[in-house]
Amino acid sequence: MSKTYLTTANGAPVADDDTSISAGERGSLTFDNVHLFEKLAHFNRERIPERVVHARGYGAYGTFTLNKDLSDYTIADFLQGAGKKTDVFLRFSTVAGGQDSGDYVRDVRGFALRFYTEQGNYDIVGNNTPVFFIRDPAKFPDFIHSQKKDPKTNLPDPAHHFEFWANHPQSMHQITILMSDRGIPRSLRHTNGYGSHTLSLWNKDGERFWVKWHFKTNQGIETLTNDEAAKQPGDGMQRDLVEAIERDDFPSWSVKIQVMTDEQAKQCEFNPFDLTKVWPHKEFPLKDIGTLELNRNVGNYFAETEQVAFAPSNLVPGVGVSPDKVLQGRLFAYADAHRHRLGVNYQQIPVNKPVCPVHHYQRDGVMAGASGCPVTGHLQNADVNFYPNDRSDAPVPAPQLGEPSMPLENDAWLKAYDSSDEDNYSQAGNLYRIMSEGQKQQLVSNIVDGLSQATESVQSRMVEHFTRCDEDYGQRIEALLLK
Ligand code: NDP
Ligand code: HEM
Repeated sequence: MSKTYLTTANGAPVADDDTSISAGERGSLTFDNVHLFEKLAHFNRERIPERVVHARGYGAYGTFTLNKDLSDYTIADFLQGAGKKTDVFLRFSTVAGGQDSGDYVRDVRGFALRFYTEQGNYDIVGNNTPVFFIRDPAKFPDFIHSQKKDPKTNLPDPAHHFEFWANHPQSMHQITILMSDRGIPRSLRHTNGYGSHTLSLWNKDGERFWVKWHFKTNQGIETLTNDEAAKQPGDGMQRDLVEAIERDDFPSWSVKIQVMTDEQAKQCEFNPFDLTKVWPHKEFPLKDIGTLELNRNVGNYFAETEQVAFAPSNLVPGVGVSPDKVLQGRLFAYADAHRHRLGVNYQQIPVNKPVCPVHHYQRDGVMAGASGCPVTGHLQNADVNFYPNDRSDAPVPAPQLGEPSMPLENDAWLKAYDSSDEDNYSQAGNLYRIMSEGQKQQLVSNIVDGLSQATESVQSRMVEHFTRCDEDYGQRIEALLLK
């Protein structure tokens, strides 16, 4: 068998990879160390910026199988015809920690799902919680700063978490989930996923339906207490997922949607586009629409899991967003982050490349792949680069696939809209009231672990917020703080 020779990145065979060219036994190096310089220079550039949030992640490929035709609701090709299968990529993550932080922290888990549809990539960039901490995107950087390490000491500081929350009672619902038993899943296979936001579907008649996506684990919900989590190895969740897939024990989730018509949305007592609220199951029952299965590990962690670029703005015909203000902010944030982290041609990286043909008039930029390029893909051929043009075979827009127009509120005024007081407590209280005694005790003890490190003023404001969710909830926290 012929040998495979080591080469430079330029393809030239390398004669020696162990020693540097030197001026004698005790002499310095020379400038003809071309291979050494390339080796050192490339090594210096191995790191790209990590995600500013959700830096620690674990991805796998899989299949979404539709078990109910949704053509009454949408023209999206991946939702047509029971039995339709679509390839997916799912990336789990923690939110606050860096790339090398631990797996078993009490934190929300990201649940970012890409459908590689025949009409482009559709991303649902959700979490393992049905709601979120804020309802206005202006609060996101402040919220995240309060969860990250102290800027002076670089140490975690739970007092900061509670200082933010004391000033933002809109977080009460999500705090109640985060501090509950579900705040630390046993593994990524044992947690649910949610689109969290109100998203939309639209059909061939131009009717729009508001939807919430739910991914219910078929492995069952399993969780760890703080003490159990502290005994786990730092990378245990990642290992668990990789090993389960390796041994063909493919994890799966039942995929369900809640649907609300526009008329129902207008009548809804609460704002159905408020990310801090769920839609009660009794009023908006879960419809079973399919199964999500993970069945293939990545072949290269960096190329795939690190470079995957999810975005709530990755939409396909038949699906849309909603007026949820946080979602609207996210429509800007993700593609902007990708251009910073991966460069302007990030959609040409194989994990981000749609499975359908791509035709547009964008040209050039860093790392632009020519048509047929095996590394980056498919775009940027030598054809006409402006529109409109007179060529009969050049790409043209498809107005028949345009989203139906979105009505505005009748007397809406453009102004800074203060939503900070829109019922921050009822649903957090509802959750508390459906918990078992054991869950309540765990919840209260997890909260007091962190809250006891906050100032007295923060503690008393938080007790007031918990009491407004449920009197018993507040009283138990106050009693435990005084112990
Ligand atoms: P239901 O009794 O119909 O549903 C309760 C839901 O709560 C179930 O989905 C259950 O999940 C989930 N749940 C139970 N314990 C926890 C926990 N510690 N953290 C997060 N979720 C939990 O009631 P409603 O629909 O009227 O909702 C009541 C409350 O339940 C809400 O205020 C909300 O906090 C919570 N919830 C509601 C969801 C919804 O979409 N309506 C979704 C998730 C939570 P499971 O069935 O998987 O055990
Ligand atoms: C990642 C911004 C709210 C879920 C990110 C990233 C940014 C960001 C910049 C890193 C993207 C990258 O570099 O690839 C924001 C902003 C928000 C917001 C500005 C609010 C205004 C949310 C909400 C959810 C969410 C509400 C879930 C419901 C995620 C997930 C990831 C992520 C899952 C990781 C995606 C992956 O695995 O690559 N967010 N985010 N974010 N965000 Fe958000």
